[in-house]
Amino acid sequence: MTGERAKHGARHVAIIMDGNGRWAKKRRLPRAIGHQRGVEAVRSVARAARTMGLDALTLYAFSTENWSRPEDEVSALMGLLKHFIQSDLEEFVRDNVRLKMIGEWRALAPDLVALIDNALERTAANTGCTLAVALNYGSQDEIARAAAKAAAKGEVSVQTIEAELDTAGLPPLDLLIRTSGEVRLSNFLLWQAAYAEMIFTDVLWPDFGPDNLAEALAEFAQRERRYGGR
Ligand code: FPP
Repeated sequence: MTGERAKHGARHVAIIMDGNGRWAKKRRLPRAIGHQRGVEAVRSVARAARTMGLDALTLYAFSTENWSRPEDEVSALMGLLKHFIQSDLEEFVRDNVRLKMIGEWRALAPDLVALIDNALERTAANTGCTLAVALNYGSQDEIARAAAKAAAKGEVSVQTIEAELDTAGLPPLDLLIRTSGEVRLSNFLLWQAAYAEMIFTDVLWPDFGPDNLAEALAEFAQRERRYGGR
């Protein structure tokens, strides 16, 4: 499907996966179980993104602000990520999924970095859907790094900054979804969202599935995008 637009018209969708903690709390379960169920939602939504013809799905897995959470929650999240890459890599290889990371993920624990490097290498030549995971990501930091690189190369412009963003090479962002009823961007893809459509849903992330993605894409298809023109 890559390069060819699906009927809904979207190529690149990004999701702020919010509400794992509240999902667990409602069931009197530990937060870590909420995150575990969140990974299951990641798996099913990433598969749905492929069958629904998206070229790229970008997921906000861990922000630069998430370090302020209790140490056991941070290590549970890192453990889940590690396990996710280990258990799903063969599926990505088989299904032509290209894995990509955005953010300062190289600053993470060396064993996780090595695991990610291997996964990136094994899927680098894949031409199907790109699954981009934002890890140790902050959008303001990404823009500052990109601007500095553009300046070092001698020209600062919208185009030269854009070319240095972590998302360079991905299709323009069409749709940004945030789950759990919060209505803010939380330092995610601030630059890329300039002309993206946005959908905020009350569904908590562990409950978000292929039907919710299909519904969001149907709503996207109804929106009239004007890019500042009329
Ligand atoms: C928000 O829930 C979610 C996160 C901070 C982390 C999202 C991470 C995952 C779904 C798992 C790992 C990801 C991948 C790609 C394998 P919250 O804890 O802020 O929920 P709350 O606002 O209800 O407390």
